[in-house]
Amino acid sequence: MTWAVVPAAGRGRRFGGEVPKQYLPILGRTVLHHALERLALHPRVRGLVVVLAADDARWPGWRELHGKPVLACTGGEERADSVLAGLRALPDTVRERDWVLVHDAARPCLRHDDLDRLLDHGMAHGVGAILAAPVRDTLKRARANGEIAGSEPRDGLWRAFTPQLFRRATLTRALESALLAAAAITDEAMAIERLGLRPMLVEGAEDNLKITTPGDLALAEYVLARLGRPG
Ligand code: C5P
Repeated sequence: MTWAVVPAAGRGRRFGGEVPKQYLPILGRTVLHHALERLALHPRVRGLVVVLAADDARWPGWRELHGKPVLACTGGEERADSVLAGLRALPDTVRERDWVLVHDAARPCLRHDDLDRLLDHGMAHGVGAILAAPVRDTLKRARANGEIAGSEPRDGLWRAFTPQLFRRATLTRALESALLAAAAITDEAMAIERLGLRPMLVEGAEDNLKITTPGDLALAEYVLARLGRPG
């Protein structure tokens, strides 16, 4: 049984609008509600820590969801600050070597079979693992004026998703070290890689999308309507 940390303290600058993207509605529930619910309904998830912005007035204050405990804490400036705050807010029953999932609040379409494979492969590997998908399009590098400067080989390139699975102490150490060095990291695996460790890539469904632009909201609604309730 694994706890999940859900960073939801971002302001969603790329999305725009007054309501942070994790609180936008899809099929009558917020993006955050879907993300938390799909985790809580998974039999191998023990509990949830949700990381909120200091001025978040929209959090409904849940203490449990589908029988799983929900703890809330306050995040920070960067994603790494928020995830670190979430790790520190985990209960003492989560030991140093225990596995912890980190999942974006902005990813409401997680499939249970993907989460199962992530847990199986990450734990068997030892360092941990992330859900990801191979790059399928041809990659172009742009000039400042919008012209194509050249093409980039896509062989061996993957897109990193969440959840990402690491041991509590290893991820805490990795994030503390990255923050101390002011290293720009955009996912947890990057912090782990800085320590010279090599987590596994576990191929997951491409519709585990992150709400980034208004168009993603309609797409996520379509995906969720098709997926139905997990379990
Ligand atoms: O901005 P981006 O889409 O990469 O954010 C991914 C996730 O990290 C979101 O769920 C967002 O709320 C969270 N985040 C956070 N604290 C920050 C920045 C982002 O919890 N300072």
